[in-house]
Formats: sequence, structure tokens, C-alpha cells
Amino acid sequence: MTLREKISKYAMPAFGKRDFVVSRGKGRKLYDDKGREYLDFGAGIAVASIGHCHPAWVRAVSKQAGVLAHCSNLYLTKPNADLSEKLVGKIGRGKVFICNSGTEANEALIKAARLHGLKVSGAEGKKYKIVTAVDGFHGRTMGCVAATAQRKIQKGFSPMLEGFEYAAFNDIDSFEKAVDDDTAAVIVEPVQGESGVTPAKREFLKALKSICKKKNALLLFDEVQCGFGRSGAFLASQRIGVKPDGVSMAKGLGGGFPIGAIWLSSPHADLFTPGSHGTTFGGNALACAAALATISVVEKERLVENAAKMGERLSAGLSKVAAKYPHIVKLERGLGLMRAVLFNGPYSNSDICARLRENGLILIPAGSNALRFLPALNVKATEIDRALKILDKTLGEL
Ligand SMILES: Cc1ncc(COP(=O)(O)O)c(C=O)c1O
Repeated sequence: MTLREKISKYAMPAFGKRDFVVSRGKGRKLYDDKGREYLDFGAGIAVASIGHCHPAWVRAVSKQAGVLAHCSNLYLTKPNADLSEKLVGKIGRGKVFICNSGTEANEALIKAARLHGLKVSGAEGKKYKIVTAVDGFHGRTMGCVAATAQRKIQKGFSPMLEGFEYAAFNDIDSFEKAVDDDTAAVIVEPVQGESGVTPAKREFLKALKSICKKKNALLLFDEVQCGFGRSGAFLASQRIGVKPDGVSMAKGLGGGFPIGAIWLSSPHADLFTPGSHGTTFGGNALACAAALATISVVEKERLVENAAKMGERLSAGLSKVAAKYPHIVKLERGLGLMRAVLFNGPYSNSDICARLRENGLILIPAGSNALRFLPALNVKATEIDRALKILDKTLGEL
């Protein structure tokens, strides 16, 4: 039985057609089952932040696996305490809760928002509304599906969790109308990822902050995709220059190991009390060691700075490609190393993605007509140039 036959027989068909077999990764390269090399500018959808199998990461994970992987959150471990301290140091005064994924992190933000509403209104079920942005993406649990204002994500799962309202992204009037005294929180991505890489405007986030302050609601940023150095700062909101009351993180944080986390600023950091939230796996020693090793590489190799620099090089190159093929590429946009090109009408992003892979470049489709560039933060200038060359050649062949 071939791998594809096995998967279609035994695995649920949640991921559509898959026929590309990945056998290993090294740095910014992936290799298929025939040993062919590909330049990986998807990084597992913004996960392999320091490239595949970075030697320092492999050493740290292997070492921790041989010492202690998991002991439950009934006890303390050094990697968990060290990672908590590290994240607070990177973000600001406050506390973290460590979990296993982006969805779980956002679910924790939703619960924290409800506890905040209860605290300030003094009554359960009064101030619990959460306002999110149209075309945002927050995950796949029922809470996160309700937070995700996209029909294709919600379809089939009615009734939605109560208490969500949607407003237009980057449109402050729309949020001003939606946020009222019953609002417990606003949750937005500083750069909308899944729907096609749209950065939030600084004025928009600043105005959101003052609306939230006026209505005593939390301003919460989903930095699952845009966070962890990708924007050219540790958090995209730090690059944009607006400080939230809380953030969710995941993806790049573990460098390939599943981990998520939320941070809440000091005044809100004690909303969760014993019994109100929890996790079996979240924050285990192995996941925390992986995240600590990833952060250590990011710091030692100055990868946040590299992301800013390489992001500019990529952006300049993509603009040139867009200008060369105006009938195919509508525009390029993004922040740091989170970028996308949007295609014109007849050209499908998944078809172009497949052609690019045949030519040796891996990208990730987004929204209905975009392709995302999310390379590892340690991508080199020569690799950016090679990716641009492959893009140019592939568009030329269309
Ligand atoms: C902005 C954002 N939030 C949340 C999620 C969900 O994260 P996960 O797939 O780790 O549950 C994603 C995943 O793509 C995301 O991009």
C-alpha cells in the first residue's frame, strides 16, 4: 500500500488532497521521498522559525527528552519557570499561561475575557461580548470558530458560541459601533494571516486601544502567526507600536515543537485562579525546553533583526516581480517576513503554488487569491534571491 493509499484509508479526510511526501528537513530546505530538495518558504505555516533541525534545538530537545518530558502541572519544572520568565521579559509586566497550540491560546484569551467581564460588571452573563474582525482567523475549537468571522470556517457547526460580534478590519468606525458597555474584549490579529496577510494600521490599533479603555474592555491580540520575531520585532504589535492587555502566541514559539501561550498584562494577570483553567500537557518540560532553545537561537543569531532586514529584501523583490507581471500579480504586502502576493482574477493561488513546488519553492496559499511567504527567521539573502528567481521563472511560464 502506498503512503497516499494508507492515509486515505486510515486518516480522516480533514486536509483535502495531499500527495507531496516530505521525508526530512534541514535549515530552510525540505526533501521529498525521492531526495529532491525544495526551498521551504512556508516553514510549516510559520512554525519552523529557526529552520528545520537547528543543531542547538536538536541538542536541547534530545537532552530534555532524556531527563524529563512531562510530570503534570501539579509540580514545578525549571524549563516551565524559565520560559515563563523569558516570555514576560520579552513582552512586558504581566504573567503567562502555557498551553499546546494557537487555538488553545485563543480559547484561554476568550475565557480570560469572560472573567474580566465578570470582574468589572460584578455579574455573570452581563459583560461577555467579544468583538473580532471580519476575515480574521483564530482557530478550530467552538470558541475560536465563533471568534473567526469567516463563513467557510463556521459552516456546519451551528449554533455558534454566543456573545461574538464582528466588525470590519482596519475600520475604526465599524469597531466603534460594535464595542459597547457589554463588551468584555476585542480580539484581532495585528497582521491577518490566513485571509491573505493584511497588516493592521497603527491608527486603527491605537483607536481600538482607546475604545477598549473607554468601555473597560480588554484589547487582546492574536499573535499566533505574526508573533515571535516574524514581523521584525518580538511581537508584531511591538513593531506597530501598540501595547495590548493580552496576547496569544504559538507556531514559531516552539521551533517545530507544539506549544502555545498567552500573556496578560499585570492588572489582568491573575484572572485565572486554581480550578478556572488548566491543561494536562501544556507547559511540560519538553515543550518548554524546545521553546527556550528556539528563543536562545533567535537571540544569539539576532534573528529578529534578520527578519526585519530580510523582510525588506523580500518585499522589494516581490514588488519588482509584481511590476513585471501586472496581469498576474495584483500586489504584494505584509510585515517583516510575513508577506503575500495577491493574484489577479483567472490565476488560482493553489495552481501557482503547485507549479512553484515543481520548480523547487514551497509557499502557502492564503485566502482566495494570495500566496504567503513565511520563511524561517534565519533565512539568508541568497535564499530570498533564489525564491524570487523561482517565482519570476514560474510566473513567466504561465
Ligand atoms: C492567527 C492564528 N490564530 C490561531 C491559529 C490556530 O493555531 P493552531 O493551528 O496552532 O491551533 C492560527 C493558525 O493558523 C492562526 O494563524
